[in-house]
Amino acid sequence: MHDLTPKSPRDSEVVMTQLILPPDANNLNAAFGGKVMQWIDICGAVAAQRHCRQVVVTASMDDLHFHAPIRVGWIALLHSRVLATFRTSLEVGVTVHAENPLTGERHLTTSALLTFVTQDKDGKGVPVPPLLLETDAERDAFAEAEARRAQRRGRGKEEQSWMKVMKPVAGA
Ligand SMILES: CC(C)(COP(=O)(O)OP(=O)(O)OC[C@H]1O[C@@H](n2cnc3c(N)ncnc32)[C@H](O)[C@@H]1OP(=O)(O)O)[C@@H](O)C(=O)NCCC(=O)NCCS
Repeated sequence: MHDLTPKSPRDSEVVMTQLILPPDANNLNAAFGGKVMQWIDICGAVAAQRHCRQVVVTASMDDLHFHAPIRVGWIALLHSRVLATFRTSLEVGVTVHAENPLTGERHLTTSALLTFVTQDKDGKGVPVPPLLLETDAERDAFAEAEARRAQRRGRGKEEQSWMKVMKPVAGA
């Protein structure tokens, strides 16, 4: 049976460090956005898996913002934390700070919200342990995640106007 004992977000938090090297860069000598997204996905998935002790897949990435570039030679510090748990899914927040290795200066460069869904070996969802909310800030973050989920569920992808204008490109 699945252990559904409530867990604190502190128990699954992840901190990941990456040195930005030339192969990770775009032609402006800063980290390539797609590479940063890959690290965000991994950092978020590790927190989700630690919380559930289950395999998870990424269902969505929302509110991804690149606030500032991360220069080659700087360090990317990724931090992920479970914000809310639902039935078989959970929302994880990820931030990325840039650190100058020579001075220690740090600033926020990227933030994103990801939803992961558990999967057992047959591809079925598995119940997620509830989140133990201990502070008002954690309770507020949970409430915001619930509101985002309600909004997401309210707009099925087929009903969105932009999907209707996406016709297959001839020859593509
Ligand atoms: C994500 C996925 C498992 C959802 O499957 P589904 O049959 O549509 O799922 P259901 O409608 O039964 O919903 C299952 C859960 O997923 C959540 N979910 C489904 N689509 C979602 C989306 N786009 N964003 C956020 N959550 C989503 C539902 O809210 C539900 O959560 P709950 O159990 O906590 O209420 C399925 O679409 C999938 O496998 N996608 C591909 C995942 C993948 O390959 N990711 C990249 C590599 S890891």
